[in-house]
Amino acid sequence: MIFFDEKKQIWKLDTPNTSYILGVVDGKYLAHLYYGAKVADTDLSYLLRLSEGSGVPSKNPAESVGFMDGLPFEYPVSGRGDFRESCISVRNAAGQEGLELCYVDCEIVQEKEPLQGLPASFGENVNTLKIRLSDEVLHLSVILSYSVFEDVDVITRSVLVCNDGEQELFLTRALSACLEIENENFEVLSFTGSWSREHIPERQKLLHSAVTAESFRGVGGHDGQPFLALVSENATEDAGKVYAMHLIYSGNFYGKAKCNPHEQVRMVLGIQPEGFCCKLEPGETFCTPEAVMTFSGQGISGMTHTLHDFYRQHLIRSKWKFAERPVLINSWEAVYFDFTTEKLLEIVKEAAMAGIDLFVLDDGWFGKNRNQPSGALGDWFCNEEKLPGGLKRLSEEIKKQGMLFGLWFEPEMISEDSCLYREHPEWVLHTKDRRPGLCRDQWMLDFSNPAVIDYLYEKMEKVIDEAGLSYIKWDMNRGICDVGSEYLPADRQGELLHRHVLGVYELQERLIERFPELLIENCSSGGARFDPGMLYYSPQIWCSDDMDPVERLSIHEGTAMIYPISCIGSHVCKSPNDITGREVPFATRGIQAMMGTFGYELDITKISEEEKRAIPEQIKAYRGIQKLVQEGDYWRLASYRENGLYNVYMVVSKDKKSAYVIYMQVLARPNTKSRRVFFKGLDKNQLYQVSDGEKTECFRGDVLMQAGYLFPHRQRDFVSVFLRLEAVEDEI
Ligand code: DGJ
Repeated sequence: MIFFDEKKQIWKLDTPNTSYILGVVDGKYLAHLYYGAKVADTDLSYLLRLSEGSGVPSKNPAESVGFMDGLPFEYPVSGRGDFRESCISVRNAAGQEGLELCYVDCEIVQEKEPLQGLPASFGENVNTLKIRLSDEVLHLSVILSYSVFEDVDVITRSVLVCNDGEQELFLTRALSACLEIENENFEVLSFTGSWSREHIPERQKLLHSAVTAESFRGVGGHDGQPFLALVSENATEDAGKVYAMHLIYSGNFYGKAKCNPHEQVRMVLGIQPEGFCCKLEPGETFCTPEAVMTFSGQGISGMTHTLHDFYRQHLIRSKWKFAERPVLINSWEAVYFDFTTEKLLEIVKEAAMAGIDLFVLDDGWFGKNRNQPSGALGDWFCNEEKLPGGLKRLSEEIKKQGMLFGLWFEPEMISEDSCLYREHPEWVLHTKDRRPGLCRDQWMLDFSNPAVIDYLYEKMEKVIDEAGLSYIKWDMNRGICDVGSEYLPADRQGELLHRHVLGVYELQERLIERFPELLIENCSSGGARFDPGMLYYSPQIWCSDDMDPVERLSIHEGTAMIYPISCIGSHVCKSPNDITGREVPFATRGIQAMMGTFGYELDITKISEEEKRAIPEQIKAYRGIQKLVQEGDYWRLASYRENGLYNVYMVVSKDKKSAYVIYMQVLARPNTKSRRVFFKGLDKNQLYQVSDGEKTECFRGDVLMQAGYLFPHRQRDFVSVFLRLEAVEDEI
């Protein structure tokens, strides 16, 4: 709901439990007034304390700079006396920066428009406020869009910058959102990590130095998320305030939270300004990616539930979102590059007998000599020396076994040793006269060049069609450097990284349009491109190459803190694990892979008969909870990352009739009793049947939540318990 007090020029944006208030100050400056729990009143302008300082510029022009440096701006500019972080910076024809944005008008529309070329949220019950600001010297206008969702506590923001004048301008910074809040002893929640240790949450006190979350790699990277949140000091899972921002974007991002000496906190989020410069010819526009904002008064879980609901309902589009997803087996850790058709078909046969639905052939099937991670990237045709009869034969054999077929691609890459490079050396990203740096022995293709996108579309379309693929894994195994394009003119090179991201989106969009049934799983050297932008194209994303169930506990905890578990790619790995060398029982590996989309990544022909027999049981158990994985509320009950001993989470259906709990005793401890765990999210009056597969007991919801459940201690490491809860009628 959007309220507009036209006389006072104040807007109030209400979601079910939150209010966001902004207004015009001194007839022209757009200021932030309030964000937090829902309030009834609209005019909270007293919070600006305008009478306490030197006053507004129209009354006291002698102190306009002081005013600029103190007002909580909705979209702060650079160069006019606000010495804090800005959201927009523009260079004029004289090479100077600086602008002043003043209120012009507003429009309220009963919809949410898509963003040209960018992923964007959508929905039926959403209203959008568009506020136009302009700089009369530069003839530049900026339209701030606020989309207010009626079923979830989210407001999304994006910005359209338009050159209305007759001179070219250069946009050197264009962030998506700014939030101005008075400090309440906040901490900042962000994410860190590395390859095989992705998405680890981190909290630090917000003092007066900035806390940033940023990427320079051209993708989000393993070491961060396009996310920042201010949380009350000592906020817990269930209590405290959380103000979170998350960017729907898959390239370089920049987030910063900083508190000034007057305890005013400014938090901004958007495209990384370093290396960014977009030329705006007269009449040209630039649209920023969309930022998702949410406020929770119920601690971290409140934020988690909102983001999960929002992404499931308003961002993921795939027809697979709520459909039963195929249980897959991926060839990568089973055979790496070392396979023949016969070997693959042995795997397929065993997998089909075990009830697995989809066989995914990972890296190594294409071009010539792709028997190691170098060569052939860009040559998206089957290596028939390795796979005689080609993908067609393989596909027919897979389908004869009643399975679906999926394939790996790494479309953004090119190898020096490839037909593509010999034909189009100019398609490699590089700067003048410099040989580009290699990473995994590969280079980046120039995705700003439409001919590159067309080439890839044509090749991929052909393979998907001819091999009858149901699934593709889109990988991306390096960061982008040597950012130079032979296609773009000199004054547009600063757009290259953003154009790369747009190219990725365009190619995925074209494939989805052509193959609406195709299930895409995005991936980037594990989880280096796990971001909301990717969710718009693929309902599942590969979360990490580290499938070790112990390591996955922390990776999963961080990922699931901000993403629905239905999009977290999780596989049962082999043991000992290839990354950690750890040996974990098959049952535990199976239970832990139920944390997301369920699959296997091991050589099924080499596991024991007992393990093979366990697979149909594991699939049955997963099928039993798949609806919960896709639609339920996820609760963190205990974190191994924090306690070093055990981990527990649970998922409860929206109607609270059904739930599952996954417990893992990572390390056995001498002289230890059973462990008491308090469940969450249940109906306190409801009687539940609780079954661990061996015994079944009945407990009421309030008992499980207030008195807790006892998980027996076992004298073994790496033991998991999988509990199912079903509501039952009370006996009369
Ligand atoms: C990195 C991915 O994360 C792996 O799953 C696998 O697909 C390899 N690339 C293949 O090169």
